[in-house]
Amino acid sequence: LFSSHQIHSLPPQSSSFGIAFDIDGVILRGNIPIGGSSRALQRLYDDSGNLRIPYVFLTNGGGVPESKRAAELTKLLDVNILASQVIQGHSPFKQLVKRYENELVIAVGKGEPATVMSEYGFKNVLSVDEYAMYFENIDPLVQYKNWTQKLTGNHNGLPREMAAINDPSSQRVKAVFIVSDSVDWSRDIQVLCDILSTGGLPGREIASQPPLYFANDDLSYQGLFPTERLGMGAFRIALESIFNRIYPNVLKYTSYGKPNPSAFRTAENVLMQVVPQVSHPENGKQHTFKTLYMIGDNPSVDIRGARETGSPWFSILTRTGVFKGEKNHDNHPADLVVDNVEQAVDYILRKEG
Ligand code: G3P
Ligand code: MG
Repeated sequence: LFSSHQIHSLPPQSSSFGIAFDIDGVILRGNIPIGGSSRALQRLYDDSGNLRIPYVFLTNGGGVPESKRAAELTKLLDVNILASQVIQGHSPFKQLVKRYENELVIAVGKGEPATVMSEYGFKNVLSVDEYAMYFENIDPLVQYKNWTQKLTGNHNGLPREMAAINDPSSQRVKAVFIVSDSVDWSRDIQVLCDILSTGGLPGREIASQPPLYFANDDLSYQGLFPTERLGMGAFRIALESIFNRIYPNVLKYTSYGKPNPSAFRTAENVLMQVVPQVSHPENGKQHTFKTLYMIGDNPSVDIRGARETGSPWFSILTRTGVFKGEKNHDNHPADLVVDNVEQAVDYILRKEG
């Protein structure tokens, strides 16, 4: 039905604006499309299915590679979404590949965190699930967790004897990446405290902390439940509070994702590349967008980020997610508040003619 070259057929004159869509609470709740999102996205294509308006998804969520997320969104929303249009909280982790390419790094979170990192080019990455299996008794509660998988003969794809030679429990963990929301907070906080307090060698003496990276710092987000759910920022607070109470040095970490202006600047660069003639116009001049629209549901993340990044960002707040107010948000007021994403796209298309 769709071909990958169709995105390149955008007429250059229509590229003076672009759109970044938040996902959770704007496009989807759980796996359910909301707010007329599928219809809204279809309006960004012409009758033959060619993209008319450059757009990306700028989500703090993640847990699967961008290509897989694009395929899932294509199915749910009935428009052809390319991997290059999906920017997730963990997408900036690929910029750290050079630093850790062959070092042992641990990936935490729901979905396929180690696959995400391997696809970015990290060559020696284990999920915390796999890693914890190499340490007997590291989680004293494991016997009560009837959902956990038991250790099988498959050690990260290696036969048992080879896995023993390369036993990750005797290798120093050089960095920890929180790729997506932690599934088992108690086990993850325990194992992360072990890694981070010992210089990356659980069970050994206290040593300096390896770097810790979070894909986002969202306190909460909107899922299917009527009120917000605890996000990665809540997990960070739990880990940090416990770590700082137990060990002599305070926890050091770096958080990516919105509201960091760098996430919005990445979106701008990606939007330029969505259409080759935008980034490489024939007259040789670098294209700049007149307006970039951020459509989000979370005032302190989506709207704050767009506002702090400044021009050319214009923020649109929907009422389908974290924000449920009648007027505008007090601390992080958006340039426009609408009921849902369909109204937002309607406004943009009318304004841009
Ligand atoms: O876990 C995802 C959540 O924290 C935010 O996702 O799409 O609203 O940025 P999104
Ligand atoms: Mg959201």
